[in-house]
Amino acid sequence: MKRRSVEPVYSMCVQPSFIIGTYNEDGTSNFAPITWVSATGAGSDKYMLVISMFGSKRTKLNVIRDRKFSANLVNTSMLPLMDYFGTKHKAEDDVTEPAYGEGVGEVLDVPTLDESPWVYECEVAEAVQTGESTTFFCPIRNVQMDENLICEDTFDVDLTVLDPVIYSGRYHSLGKMLGKIGDFRMRSYEETKDRKEILSKFHRNVAIMYGVLALGLLLSFIGGFMVLSNPAVLIAGVALVFGSILFGFFSGAVFCPLCGEIISRQGFGEYCKHCGGKIF
Ligand SMILES: Cc1cc2nc3c(=O)[nH]c(=O)nc-3n(C[C@H](O)[C@H](O)[C@H](O)COP(=O)(O)O)c2cc1C
Repeated sequence: MKRRSVEPVYSMCVQPSFIIGTYNEDGTSNFAPITWVSATGAGSDKYMLVISMFGSKRTKLNVIRDRKFSANLVNTSMLPLMDYFGTKHKAEDDVTEPAYGEGVGEVLDVPTLDESPWVYECEVAEAVQTGESTTFFCPIRNVQMDENLICEDTFDVDLTVLDPVIYSGRYHSLGKMLGKIGDFRMRSYEETKDRKEILSKFHRNVAIMYGVLALGLLLSFIGGFMVLSNPAVLIAGVALVFGSILFGFFSGAVFCPLCGEIISRQGFGEYCKHCGGKIF
């Protein structure tokens, strides 16, 4: 892949979107979008949410004071809330405030958003200052998940159902679920079953495709010269060219030559969705 270098200014970074719920000093609740969110291990099967905030916003002051918060995952239908809380404090009177429901954590006394399909209740274990930003390392005390989510465990979640908003400087949603970790692992030569057969089938398809393409081109040229006397030759040539392209598209690249996975319906110049290798 050819890339170009740009200045290392703050730029696109693929981030999950959360609205962080805290209590203000007067006991009212506060919500603010935070997308500098990640996770890390905390030992013995426990893990922490890592959130980072810059400046001196209410949420940051509340988290420093109370050392607890809720992280409400934002799905696409919560975008109006995300945008609203990104510019307004919850307590401000505003007729443009979108409707939303508010609850309280099940384990921690933190405000939560009814609209969110996935909520973490977190405490703060540690804070690290870098410039004007503070990064909080936060043990997760409870996870609330939409009870309609069908999954075997908290890893087996179809994000296309959860429909999270991905922020990168622009909001995005997910298009489709592609698989789990390992599904795209490059197979070693030994691991790939019937590799010889796969490769010979692949080479045969490529040979047929290019053979037909070459014949089509030849006939097109001949037809071009003879067009006035016999246009049928030109038509046959053009038909063969298109036929071989279609053949290549639908059957020529049925197996990836690199990992042997079936990659039917992929076209020329595309990358294998299993191993990432270029097909042609
Ligand atoms: C999409 C989006 C993502 C944001 N991500 C962060 C973030 O990761 N860290 C941060 O400090 N502020 C972030 N902000 C800014 C805060 O949400 C914003 O300053 C908010 O108004 C703070 O509200 P508060 O003062 O009530 O806490 C983000 C805002 C938006 C709209």
